[in-house]
Amino acid sequence: MRTLAIGLLVAAVSSARADDSAAAYRAHCAACHGEDGRADSLNARGLKVAPLQGYERLRGMQAPEIAALVRSNPKHAAVTHVEDAELLSAAAYVMQLVGKKP
Ligand code: HEC
Repeated sequence: MRTLAIGLLVAAVSSARADDSAAAYRAHCAACHGEDGRADSLNARGLKVAPLQGYERLRGMQAPEIAALVRSNPKHAAVTHVEDAELLSAAAYVMQLVGKKP
């Protein structure tokens, strides 16, 4: 039983690829940063959310660095419940957004 559970966990983590990273971003980040990372909703402006599209500071960063940045920013108290694998997945999507022209 335990082996099965571990097997399922490994399968779940390794299936967290491209599509899933968009889904993870939508589930945990889009409410503030916007679906397209522009953070141009009224709420986002009120919260002073950083637009992720074309955000220079993040250019060249890999997903683990972005995830660490998210964890270390007190403005992200709302995402502390997000598991590491899920956050890493969302961060991979952020890398795509950063590469887009704002
Ligand atoms: C409750 C709203 C909220 C949610 C949800 C949220 N963020 Fe943010 N995020 C912010 C705000 C506000 C800032 C600007 C922080 C600042 O200026 O210090 C920010 C900044 C960032 C930055 C830039 C960090 C920096 O230090 O410059 C990154 C990267 C980021 N968010 C990624 C994410 C990711 C990935 C998720 C989903 C896992 C997420 N955020 C979810 C509100 C949110």
